[in-house]
Amino acid sequence: MGWPVEQSRSPLIHNHWITEHQLNGAYVRLPVNPENPQNIADAIAGMRAMGFAGCNLTMPHKSVVIPYLDHIDPVAKVMGAVNTVVFGDDGSLSGYNYDGFGFVQSLLDVDPNWRTDAGPIVVLGAGGASRAIVYALAQYGAKEIRVCNRTFDKAQAIADEFGSPLKAIEWGNRHAALVDCALLINTTNQGMYAQPALDILLDALPAHAVVSDVIYVPLETPLLAAARVRGNQTVNGLGMLINQARPAFNAWFGVTPSISTELLKAVNATF
Ligand code: ATR
Repeated sequence: MGWPVEQSRSPLIHNHWITEHQLNGAYVRLPVNPENPQNIADAIAGMRAMGFAGCNLTMPHKSVVIPYLDHIDPVAKVMGAVNTVVFGDDGSLSGYNYDGFGFVQSLLDVDPNWRTDAGPIVVLGAGGASRAIVYALAQYGAKEIRVCNRTFDKAQAIADEFGSPLKAIEWGNRHAALVDCALLINTTNQGMYAQPALDILLDALPAHAVVSDVIYVPLETPLLAAARVRGNQTVNGLGMLINQARPAFNAWFGVTPSISTELLKAVNATF
């Protein structure tokens, strides 16, 4: 459920697993226009009435759905955003957020030896995706996370809320903030299809640093292309999308699906 949802690869991923596990179901796109705030409440009520197992939420519904839930997982509560809703047999609604888990897992898929405490982490952006990732990184043992956002107050608000190991950085200092950094993450929309490239100089970034982008359209953003050219390991946003889908599928159907080469091939063929 989102607005827009046409570009979503989630139906392909979940329907692949539904077929693989011989389940009787379908994962469908549900465009819900946010212009009328009542729409999200009506959509959730309609899904309950129709016997849905649950749904995913994407922009811009991840936070506005919260008042309609009966239970909210502590992780989603801290993140202030829900990306998965499960409809219980008794009609109750429970909200979860697997975005942070998906992000960390996507790094581990690329390098199983990757560690959150390998060195300082720079996170660009302070929106919903940033909150989920920063929270997960702190949970997994990150020692220093530099949150850098165009609107400084939002970076400061995240740092104040989550406390140590976070530090808020002025947007003007983003280039210099890359010194000693072991992981750079772009959570802004800069570099996404139809958006300008992220304005950042990688000169200060160590050669061993991993560069990651939550964007997956395009698969290689200008940031990732620049990082690849200078020899840094890169991770695109597709891994995060696929990895957050695994616990969601499990929450609805009770089986944890795997990320097979077949699935990756099918998803990659859509780009
Ligand atoms: P999401 O939930 O996907 O994280 P969001 O909450 O809309 O989306 O956050 C978008 C992020 O991209 C914000 O950190 C935003 O910065 P501001 O807080 O200053 O708005 C960032 N962003 C958007 N346009 C940007 C630009 N031109 N340059 C730098 N950052 C930008």
